[in-house]
Amino acid sequence: MSSKAYVVPIDPKNPAGNAAPGVNPTSLWSSLPPAQKPAKVGTSHLFYGTPAFDVTALVSLGEGFDSKTGDVRREIVRKAVGSGIKSVKGLGDGVSEAVIDASTDPHAAAVAAHLALYNFSLKTSPPSAFDVRGTTGVPKKVEISTNTKTADWDRGVVYANAQNLARTLMELPANMMTPTAFCERAQTEFSGIPNVEIIVRDEAWAAEKGMRTFLSVTQGTDQPAKFLEIHYKGAPSKDAQPLAFVGKGITFDSGGISLKASEDMKLMRGDMGGAATVVSSLLAIAQLQLPINIVAVTPLCENLPGPKATKPGDVIYAMNGKSVEVDNTDAEGRLVLADALYYVSTEFKPHTVIDVATLTGAIEVALGEIYTGVFTTSDTLWDRLSVAGESEYDRFWRMPLDEDYGPQIYSSNADLCNTGGKPAGSCTAALFLKAFVNGIEAKDGQEPSVRWAHLDIAGTMEDVCHEQKYDLNNDVVRNTPFICTRPTPYQEKGMTGRPVRALVEFVRRLSNQG
Ligand code: BES
Ligand code: MN
Ligand code: ZN
Repeated sequence: MSSKAYVVPIDPKNPAGNAAPGVNPTSLWSSLPPAQKPAKVGTSHLFYGTPAFDVTALVSLGEGFDSKTGDVRREIVRKAVGSGIKSVKGLGDGVSEAVIDASTDPHAAAVAAHLALYNFSLKTSPPSAFDVRGTTGVPKKVEISTNTKTADWDRGVVYANAQNLARTLMELPANMMTPTAFCERAQTEFSGIPNVEIIVRDEAWAAEKGMRTFLSVTQGTDQPAKFLEIHYKGAPSKDAQPLAFVGKGITFDSGGISLKASEDMKLMRGDMGGAATVVSSLLAIAQLQLPINIVAVTPLCENLPGPKATKPGDVIYAMNGKSVEVDNTDAEGRLVLADALYYVSTEFKPHTVIDVATLTGAIEVALGEIYTGVFTTSDTLWDRLSVAGESEYDRFWRMPLDEDYGPQIYSSNADLCNTGGKPAGSCTAALFLKAFVNGIEAKDGQEPSVRWAHLDIAGTMEDVCHEQKYDLNNDVVRNTPFICTRPTPYQEKGMTGRPVRALVEFVRRLSNQG
């Protein structure tokens, strides 16, 4: 039998909790012998048969919670709520209904509850909510609610559901999440939301625009490429300069002719993570009707080897006229982004451009799963992103965007080469993209006309409980335990949907500023 659960975070020093029908957290907590009231964040105590619930979980907020503030306090609440849910999730046939005491921090509690109860599966029995056919009967859904509902709780639900959508788009295998399917899903998700316009462009349109580096990536596949463009106009003036999002949308990255090793290649179903996260972020922003104008573009295609595929050494003229040598067809992300960045920065004159991409394995080497790497010319943009990331514990680390890396990518027989060798692979990739952002160069001592940040999410796209895979000689070693930093109590392993919450928070703060 599936159960109804009540999850109550408790400050051990002041175990008030929020009383619910038939549940008095204070007396339940005080009924515990002192030895069973450990102060560690996330320790849960379960009480069965409380009148209105099958189970009540009291979960500790840890020692010293009362003195914690700001970002630290929020993360404790997320962890506690996540742990509480974990402790009741597996009971019987699972939870069918979870009621959360969100009084300590409604936004953080809503986020943690909705992320913790997400569980991607395409098993057919019981029917899966993720079945794209939609024909397998009524899937089991967990009802999540709170008895301390506020506007902050509602906003947290929007944030988490958007992140969960990004997780789903990334988890879905490449045969189900083609460029066409991605666009259809976006149209469904946005339908009925005011101030939104969605345009799905095809290859003929891209060819007419001269998006030759984008199209060079899709040549090896029969699956039609798409260029998705979403406009959201929430600002008081529809003509106000927009913010632009660009998302890498490789629905499967085999590497192309420079074929990847088969090990872990299936992760590359998530190589549209940039597209998934910017579209999902924009969905939340539009649902919240934040007062801002945004245009989001995502070049979507597969990167496969085939008789027409681009070959190493081929030279392509990008939309901005620059010649690009494709030294390695597996460095395809920067090729599709080059034309998308140039298009968005020339066509819509945005004040700020943010691209998100699962761009380089090297960023995972540098930052692991903990931080998304940010490359930007703008200190103020960095500050704003950093504050938003800390606030949602969806954190960023600034990386160098430095012309001194230039020789690594400027020295082939074309203007640019799409690889820059092993050293600083994420930094040379970022520098490559910069060449396509119109307005990024300061002219005649003036400020650049656009602020730009590139977010490399290849390290943060997935939470894995790692095994150590490589020894110092890069030979494969198996089954060596590795200390696991993520997943967190509120987010299980799998595609993370990061940095959706950080982006939505960034935009919320930016739009409140006017
Ligand atoms: N999509 C990959 C990057 C990636 C790697 C994402 C691992 C997530 C996990 C990207 O297209 C790629 O293949 N990059 C190459 C670039 C290299 C050929 C210059 C890489 O990182 O090896
Ligand atoms: Mn690649
Ligand atoms: Zn890729």
